[in-house]
Amino acid sequence: MIQWTKAWTRVRASGHSTVGYMEALPDLDTDSLLRTFVESLPEGVLIIDREGRVLYMNEAGARMLDLDAPSCIGQSVEDIVDFRPVVLQALETGRGYLEKEFRIESPTRGPLHFIKSAILLRNDEGEVIGVIDCFRKARAGALKGCRDAEPKAQYCFSDIIGNDAQFLNGIRLAQLASTTDATVLLDGESGTGKELFAHAIHNEGEHRDGPFVVVNCAGLPQSLIESELFGHVPGAFTGATREGYAGKFEQAHNGTIFLDEISELPIEMQAKLLRVLQDKTFTRLGGSRAVTTNARIIAATNRDLSEEVRNQRFRADLFYRLNVLRITIPPLRARTGDIFYLAEHIIEKLAARHGVPTPRIDWRVHQALAAYDWPGNIRELENMLERAIILANGESEITMSHIPANMTPELGAREGLVEAERQGGDENLDTIERSAIMAALRANHGNVSRTATRLGVSRNTLYRKIDKYNLR
Ligand SMILES: Nc1ncnc2c1ncn2[C@@H]1O[C@H](COP(=O)(O)OP(=O)(O)OP(=O)(O)O)[C@@H](O)[C@H]1O
Ligand SMILES: [Mg+2]
Repeated sequence: MIQWTKAWTRVRASGHSTVGYMEALPDLDTDSLLRTFVESLPEGVLIIDREGRVLYMNEAGARMLDLDAPSCIGQSVEDIVDFRPVVLQALETGRGYLEKEFRIESPTRGPLHFIKSAILLRNDEGEVIGVIDCFRKARAGALKGCRDAEPKAQYCFSDIIGNDAQFLNGIRLAQLASTTDATVLLDGESGTGKELFAHAIHNEGEHRDGPFVVVNCAGLPQSLIESELFGHVPGAFTGATREGYAGKFEQAHNGTIFLDEISELPIEMQAKLLRVLQDKTFTRLGGSRAVTTNARIIAATNRDLSEEVRNQRFRADLFYRLNVLRITIPPLRARTGDIFYLAEHIIEKLAARHGVPTPRIDWRVHQALAAYDWPGNIRELENMLERAIILANGESEITMSHIPANMTPELGAREGLVEAERQGGDENLDTIERSAIMAALRANHGNVSRTATRLGVSRNTLYRKIDKYNLR
């Protein structure tokens, strides 16, 4: 008997994009609800036990593999297909994976090309007891002449964590933007989530079934930039391909083109981009025929574009065109209350990726995270937690010994903050502690015992804090 609620919590924790937050649902029969949900997924879902026996396969999975789902139950996964099932790797290595591409040769079905995720299921002792295998067919390139396999946006709005008021405004604006095909400008410091927002806007908008093409304007060599963006006709320049090349704008037709670091686009290219924004047309390098693209444009920058305009590095007319729907993502240090949620979310995802049970984050670590400045924003938080999970090496708790020393300069003074009955003193620390407790209570739906366990403090201590900060 599969415990769907438990199994699905693991899938969500792994960061799988299809899966939303189940805890938020009222307490109905979650097991049958989840079963219905999994049955209706367009993705294939296969669950095997530790011996590789099939416990469950949904209809979509059976269709993709040309199998009859009910007759597979109880059989060894090796016996139901005529190729070596990739999912066995996860059992053998004890490591899950997310959105990995696999090409498989089947003697009867021919070449198969899948995007797969494997999420390990563990018992309370941490032993692997099975694997959830999620898979979908990889799509072939949409346009002839594309060099890249069809790129896909992975994230949706449900993957974006944050409760800060300004941040929520940004999400609301992005959700609104996803219902139109207006050009969007995302601005924010490095690592704040601009690409994540671009994925979500694409995935929840009209262009979701089209490709999501990323162009890093800072990473393109000057000599190739025009051809990369707009393509070229056969033999347009020395080194041009003989059959011609569909540039990124053509590749993104009916989908989204994400122009990252737009401030780095050379000024001549800015003029050509302006034309695309105005009438959706351009010409391939060396060509004369106007090509029309139906790509939605999302641009991102971590520079102040108005400043770039003042310094004549960015065209004012292009800036005004881009500036219609501008979403500013605040840096992490400006939304301290979100750090708790983000750390808990990231640690769950990382644990699933590393194939270890999710460790608890010691309360002192949460305090240190909330007090730190985060110049590298969420990317830095992710890197720091990844390092911590590696150092913790399967231990059940991330402690101060797992985080870098430079993150804890003032910590000597702050240590013992929770247990100590501090009177008066540093207002700023109180603010951090209050918002972290609020976040923890919200994450645990107000359940004080669970929140106290999660924070590693006694219930009495937590009650005292709740009274102190008026959180009842
Ligand atoms: N609100 C969020 N919730 C969950 N994860 C987030 C959030 N914001 C960012 N991340 C994660 O942080 C990392 C950095 O985000 P992203 O790449 O989108 O940043 P960016 O603003 O595009 O940075 P850069 O300017 O350096 O390209 C990613 O792994 C992303 O998944
Ligand atoms: Mg980015």
